[in-house]
Amino acid sequence: MVTLLENPLRVGLQKDRIPEPQILIIFGASGDLTQRKLVPSIYQMKRERKLPAELTIVGVARRDWSHDFFREHLREGVEEFGGGIGTEAQWEDFAKGLYYCAGNMDQSESYQKLKAFLSELDEQRGTLGNRVFYLSVAPRFFAEATQQLGAAGMLTDPAKQRLVIEKPFGHDLSSAKTLNRIVQQVCAEEQIYRIDHYLGKETVQNLLVFRFANAIFEPLWNRQFVDHVQITVAETVGLEGRAGYYETSGALRDMVQNHLMQLFCLTAMEPPNSLDADSVRTEKVKVIQAARLADINDIDASAVRGQYTTGWMGGKQVPAYREEEGALPQSTTPTYAALKLFVDNWRWQGVPFYLRTGKRMPKKVTEISIHFREVPFLMFQSAARQMNRNVLALRIQPDEGISMRFEVKTPGTSLRTRSVDMDFRYDTAFGQANADAYGRLLIDCMLGDQTLFTRGDEVEASWRVLTPLLSVWDAPASPDAVSLYEAGTWGPVEAEMLLNQDGRRWRRL
Ligand code: BG6
Repeated sequence: MVTLLENPLRVGLQKDRIPEPQILIIFGASGDLTQRKLVPSIYQMKRERKLPAELTIVGVARRDWSHDFFREHLREGVEEFGGGIGTEAQWEDFAKGLYYCAGNMDQSESYQKLKAFLSELDEQRGTLGNRVFYLSVAPRFFAEATQQLGAAGMLTDPAKQRLVIEKPFGHDLSSAKTLNRIVQQVCAEEQIYRIDHYLGKETVQNLLVFRFANAIFEPLWNRQFVDHVQITVAETVGLEGRAGYYETSGALRDMVQNHLMQLFCLTAMEPPNSLDADSVRTEKVKVIQAARLADINDIDASAVRGQYTTGWMGGKQVPAYREEEGALPQSTTPTYAALKLFVDNWRWQGVPFYLRTGKRMPKKVTEISIHFREVPFLMFQSAARQMNRNVLALRIQPDEGISMRFEVKTPGTSLRTRSVDMDFRYDTAFGQANADAYGRLLIDCMLGDQTLFTRGDEVEASWRVLTPLLSVWDAPASPDAVSLYEAGTWGPVEAEMLLNQDGRRWRRL
């Protein structure tokens, strides 16, 4: 049970401001992300009046769609993947700001056509020349699209024109550097918004508040009290028809380099001087720069890659990764990755951070758990069947909340102990659904707030940590180089051993 007390001090990152009238231009607008995530979450924000009435969206893609077809396509997305359209009038009001402009990413005429169309829309919709260009396209087009936008003179004003780039930003350290160089030749860093939707999740942002707005945890948040940290991002879904992308990315590039590294940074970083974008991002960069794989000379002792085989999920048999449509029959692409990191600084020296992520796990859960050290001397040995360490768990999704595990005496005349959890849950405390990550991040972008976006040096630092691993995992290998695990289980046995060899085990979720 948690009692909510009003706190007059605003500690949220979000400013309750409505952005100026804008045009959001989505490249790759016929793709899944637009229909399933971007537009449903923008629509929700619009209904909550967090976006300007003049908000205009222009979809750009190759297909020859009409404005009306695009509107209908997005409506289906809002109905199926969002919270529904609400009233017809609300939808109509939104839909009249939706447009489609067919174009080819690599043809300069398409950009000229788009530019002229946007100027027309400025006149019609009063959008004042404010633009957010969102590259929701295959990563190989990021550089080309940015250069073309630059050449067409559409990224000349940092105060009015912003560029959002989806992940993965680069394929490894050297391609990330090249991409940074190209993008930074066209835009100022303050115009570039490298998006990682995990940073838009309510509970991820709460990590900062939890750590730095409470006096009691920070003194314990270090090597003196913490034994180790676990970060898990488990998913139940499999490949979901994305073989073309996933075969070249795998779990390390799809999840670890971005989402897990962000969770790691927010857990391990030092307190920033303020909440402004550069203070927060500078602390994140510092902690990633101090991070390294446990043993770069022995990759197998530092990391495990796995791939799911056929198994049972929710009473249904699901295919093995190698049998999924588009996946190679001999593929070694990891759908599971676990790694052990150390952070070489005063706070964390010697404390392992174990990160794991996998597809086709028994349940969808994202959690950060801080495992504290054992008590220095245990008086209760004879009474305790097994004394557990105190664990502080930050549940990012679903069942967002925070729980603290500690030992208590069980009632009765004999001295027995048991672990219990003290729980805080968002839904019981606040009773409201959390805003979707994409919509909230787009609002920040429109407001020019980069705090929750990845800076150029941060993305490079994160690739640098993974470089020793990539050099081994990217090398041609026989199909058995990747450890197999049955769909519906918690990953390969080797991942258990990664912790067992240190006398620890993964937390049961
Ligand atoms: C995406 C990955 O970035 O994140 C997907 O490309 C993954 O493979 C997804 O399924 C997970 O996001 P969420 O918000 O559902 O945890």
